[in-house]
Amino acid sequence: MKKREAEYEFSIGLRLTHWIRAIAIVILVITGFYLAYVFIAPEISSEPNLFLQAKIRFVHLVAGFVLMAAMLYKSYLFLFDKHSRKELVSIKDFINPRVWIEQIKFYLFLGEHPHLHGVYNPLQFIAYLGFYIVLALICITGLVLHVHMYHGGLGGMIYEIMRPIEAMMGGLSEVRTIHHLSMNIIILFIPVHVYMAVFNAVKGQDGAMDAIISGYKFKVQK
Ligand code: HEM
Repeated sequence: MKKREAEYEFSIGLRLTHWIRAIAIVILVITGFYLAYVFIAPEISSEPNLFLQAKIRFVHLVAGFVLMAAMLYKSYLFLFDKHSRKELVSIKDFINPRVWIEQIKFYLFLGEHPHLHGVYNPLQFIAYLGFYIVLALICITGLVLHVHMYHGGLGGMIYEIMRPIEAMMGGLSEVRTIHHLSMNIIILFIPVHVYMAVFNAVKGQDGAMDAIISGYKFKVQK
């Protein structure tokens, strides 16, 4: 049997923010679908205070703010945390055309996996960058929608900041459309992301899936 050596890849902050975001996104997609198209109704009652829509919107908002907090913390880690340096260093591989070609060959079963300086290969890096842009867009449009609902607290505080963004996007109805379309992109991203993670782990035989849970993958000694 080949000897395997454990290698620390993902810090606790990175793993936690990954799973917090994953759970928040699932809650946001389910509640978001309800907000877009009311697919359940409360039991008929003479009481005028069932407020199902408001309750589901509340859950949506709580998950939305958790997502935003996790994203801000993750961005801080990416830029400043020394354990996350390997992520930042991936930019080196991202701008190297040789690594791009070798990586594509690897996916086409035409060559070995290229040697990387960082943790992400260039295709992974561009996919994550795109995903972050969509996440930022859904958060910004979510905040624009939010300031029209809650005029106190944070909603009131950022009202004046969000209004020009709303105008730039073409008005509130366009903002809602962009918010909804971003959700569809996120829904498409998830199965591709899971498939690619499993593919890399199986083909690379390095426990790459374990790393997002335990923090460690392993190097097989040749
Ligand atoms: C993965 C992230 C998210 C997904 C998938 C998502 C999905 C959705 C969807 C589908 C809608 C209904 C839009 C429509 O009318 O067609 C919606 C509404 C809304 N979302 Fe999000 N959203 C996300 C993040 C956020 C965030 C971060 C906020 C921030 C506060 C937010 C705040 C809102 C608000 C205020 C509404 C309007 C609720 C209403 O009309 O009553 N969302 N969301």
